[in-house]
Amino acid sequence: MIEKLRNIFTTALYQAFGGNITLIEPLVVPASNPKFGDYQCNVALSLAKTLQKPPRSIAQTIIDNINIDNFCEPLEIAGPGFINIKINPQYITQQINLVYQDERLGVIKTDKADTTIVDFSSPNIAKEMHVGHLRSTIIGDSIARILEFRGHQVLRLNHVGDWGTQFGMLIAYLRIEKPEVLTTANAVEIGDLVTLYKQAKLKFDQDLEFQETARQEVVKLQSKDPESIQAWQLLCEQSRREFEVIYQLLDIKLTERGESFYNPFLPKVIKDLETANILTENQGAKCVFLDGFVNKEGNPLPLIVQKSDGGYNYATTDLAALKYRINEDKATRIIYVTDAGQSNHFAQVFQVAKKANFIPDNVDLVHVPFGLVLAEDGKKIKTRSGETIRLKDLLDEAIDRAKKDLENRLEIEKRNEDENFVNLVSKIVGLSAVKYADLSQNRTTDYKFSYDKMLALQGNTAPYLLYAYVRVQGISRKGNIDLNSLISDKNIILTEDGELILAKHLLQFNFIIQEVEKDLLPNRLCLYLFELSQKFNQFYDQCPILQAEEKVKLSRLVLADLTAKIIKQGLYLLGISVLERM
Ligand code: ARG
Repeated sequence: MIEKLRNIFTTALYQAFGGNITLIEPLVVPASNPKFGDYQCNVALSLAKTLQKPPRSIAQTIIDNINIDNFCEPLEIAGPGFINIKINPQYITQQINLVYQDERLGVIKTDKADTTIVDFSSPNIAKEMHVGHLRSTIIGDSIARILEFRGHQVLRLNHVGDWGTQFGMLIAYLRIEKPEVLTTANAVEIGDLVTLYKQAKLKFDQDLEFQETARQEVVKLQSKDPESIQAWQLLCEQSRREFEVIYQLLDIKLTERGESFYNPFLPKVIKDLETANILTENQGAKCVFLDGFVNKEGNPLPLIVQKSDGGYNYATTDLAALKYRINEDKATRIIYVTDAGQSNHFAQVFQVAKKANFIPDNVDLVHVPFGLVLAEDGKKIKTRSGETIRLKDLLDEAIDRAKKDLENRLEIEKRNEDENFVNLVSKIVGLSAVKYADLSQNRTTDYKFSYDKMLALQGNTAPYLLYAYVRVQGISRKGNIDLNSLISDKNIILTEDGELILAKHLLQFNFIIQEVEKDLLPNRLCLYLFELSQKFNQFYDQCPILQAEEKVKLSRLVLADLTAKIIKQGLYLLGISVLERM
């Protein structure tokens, strides 16, 4: 609807002012207060200066030139010059019937399908996957799902940190302390591997002789010494299995293409930068000076792309990855989902890549930053004994707590459910709660991780939305109605306020999905679904369904069913699956 309105207003503006204004955005937005209508057009105010006329008179001229047929009620001017727009209920009825028959629920496919890369999750080998990676995983997966649903070709890449001098250090340490790890599969738990890694680092920092051994190990690894490569691969497999547990649990699909993949392309990157005349040598290191970045002393900040010992950096790999993704994967939108702490890194890499002409005009590079996950006291999340929390434990605890809540509820409601039911419901509720708590925050802010809040049945939470879905399924069970049999046209009649408000909200699904496609903020979809559930609950309170007379009953059933379908699809796009009962 908003799209249609924008077109109508653009045409009217052209009719009214023709050559006096260049084509401008008609500024049609959802009404700030539903009392005044469904949408409002604010363009008259912004034109006052250009046209040298009072906004109200501009608004009138627009109205005189507009053709809205029976799409809207007569337009009204309000306040300093807003135009209030109320959609005609007949039009809403017609549209909602169409959406009900549409298997995409009104969400149109993009007409500019492209290949998009979403680089997300990306944990590091031999290190623990931490809550930052969890956020990246949840947000990245949701963004990928939304873009896929819009019809884009999405490549979900796991840019695993599987290379670097730290492997030399770790392998050298393991040769001394636990050589079996380097030759036998599964010889060590990842938790122990992380501990060993920390010990190796400690030794490295204190022991000069060990530093030299570690360096030699790096050289061996880089020259593809078979024994070193085997050791490295075993380490990668250990970690991979650990990551896989989390991905399975969260239902995440990812293609691993770690940093090591780009090793063969690194020397060419340096050459390219040289050819582009942007490479400088600085104390033996090769670097590119950046615009707009200075160090603590206020001097220009260089991005080091090759260290004096010949080694390459995180940024060099990202430059090689950029080239590969553009030239080989043919990606035209590349999205990186990491914590906001890496914003500078990406700004620098993007800048260098542009200077080196790696980025054609049709390619869009986007860093999608997110804030920290904090404990309820606002500090870093830790276990009781002060250690970093393992993701698996964090997810298990959410499931356990969901189980306790459920068992309490079953007791109060005197329900008897079998173990399968209890396990399934607690797993879905627990995991959904964690995902939703993360996605429903504007990702750019930090958020406090609270099991109590995320598992609450009331408020903007996953259980609240899952419950709205369950409610509809309950109605159909109670009335013995097969919702799938309802799909025929012209079922819906909208008379009551509750029905109209719900229907209008249902019709915004398409708009919201396209907004998230643009600004990559899944919290907007969460808010939409939360409000949808609220409006459904109000409708359900005001408008009896099963007791209504046949025609009205049918119409309301369809509205309820459409609500459930959109909740299900919306939750799917957040990586959350629904339950039929809970
Ligand atoms: N491995 C990195 C980390 O744990 C994230 C990688 C993000 N992706 C990238 N292309 N740099 O912080």
